[in-house]
Amino acid sequence: MSIFKRPAKARRAALLPIAVGTLTVGAAFLAFAPTASYAQSNNPSSLSNYGYTGSYIYGSSGQGNGNNGPITNVNLNPSTIPFGRSLFVENCASCHGNNAEGSSRAPNLQGLGAATIDFWVSTGRMPLADPTVQAVRKPARFSRSETLAIDAYVSSLASGGPAIPNVNLQMANEASGSELFATNCAACHTITGAGDALAAGVYAPSLLSATPTQIAEAIRSGPGNMPRFGSNTLTDQQVADIAKYVTYLQKPVDQGGIALGHVGPVTEGFVGILIGLGLLMLAGLWIGGKAK
Ligand code: HEC
Ligand code: HEC
Repeated sequence: MSIFKRPAKARRAALLPIAVGTLTVGAAFLAFAPTASYAQSNNPSSLSNYGYTGSYIYGSSGQGNGNNGPITNVNLNPSTIPFGRSLFVENCASCHGNNAEGSSRAPNLQGLGAATIDFWVSTGRMPLADPTVQAVRKPARFSRSETLAIDAYVSSLASGGPAIPNVNLQMANEASGSELFATNCAACHTITGAGDALAAGVYAPSLLSATPTQIAEAIRSGPGNMPRFGSNTLTDQQVADIAKYVTYLQKPVDQGGIALGHVGPVTEGFVGILIGLGLLMLAGLWIGGKAK
């Protein structure tokens, strides 16, 4: 029997879960907002018509030079490798393979560098629930020491790539960072760091939740559709300057609107529709109940 042939009371009872469900889906989008396919997110040429002209070249020198520069390396502890391996096998291997060699479901992680692994795990992008959508920032699944252990395991499989940067903001210059941000980052992330859609299904996320380490990691590793900035493009000093400026941007928190998990304007509109629809349905049910 269709729900529309039932008595009004039963009909309301049947519609209520739908209204609540719509609200729940809206709320779920606050946390997880898939916006692009894996194929799209791995195709940097999708940004070519966007007009970005910076250097994509990655240089291997100057990553965390010594112990007293504006950026120093975070050293991974080899004794954590067995623990990291067990976490990796349990949480990552189903897609990336036991030895991080990659599979048809996910890319090879060997030799990408400790900074790359740390960025994806500490921003909650990994582990990915659904390998067909672009990874988004979400609460990290692992503690700091677990993340570093996973990183120690993957980094033990092959060398190469940037180390985890520790940014000394005290040695950084905010004014220089502001200029560098305007030239190198604002085109995609906007001048306020709020983020923006770049092309169909591709967006540059808000920078308002990233830590100085994650900012430097993103710059040096170039996640997804973001270009890599090697030390021949931005020196460690300049990376630290940019990180300092972004932390300044993070202080005036209210940029207008609510921060919907920093997933961009398209999703915000969609969430608005879902939540609005859910509320309207609830209101309709309530008025219907009164009229009876
Ligand atoms: C359900 C499958 C799945 C699981 C589980 C998963 N990943 Fe991934 N991973 C992917 C896919 C797909 C991509 C490519 C995503 C993209 O480019 O947006 C990816 C990308 C990455 C990248 C970036 C690779 C690059 O080339 O830049 C890293 C690093 C990474 N994963 C690490 C991990 C770690 C560590 C874990 C476990 C904590 C994990 N992943 C769990 C599917 C998965
Ligand atoms: C061509 C466009 C583009 C430029 C230029 C660019 N980015 Fe990005 N950025 C992206 C995209 C796209 C992502 C999302 C990558 C993903 O998750 O797949 C991103 C992600 C990030 C993140 C991760 C944010 C988070 O919290 O998850 C940070 C931090 C970041 N970028 C900083 C910068 C900085 C600093 C610069 C300038 C030095 C810069 N980006 C330049 C496109 C760009």
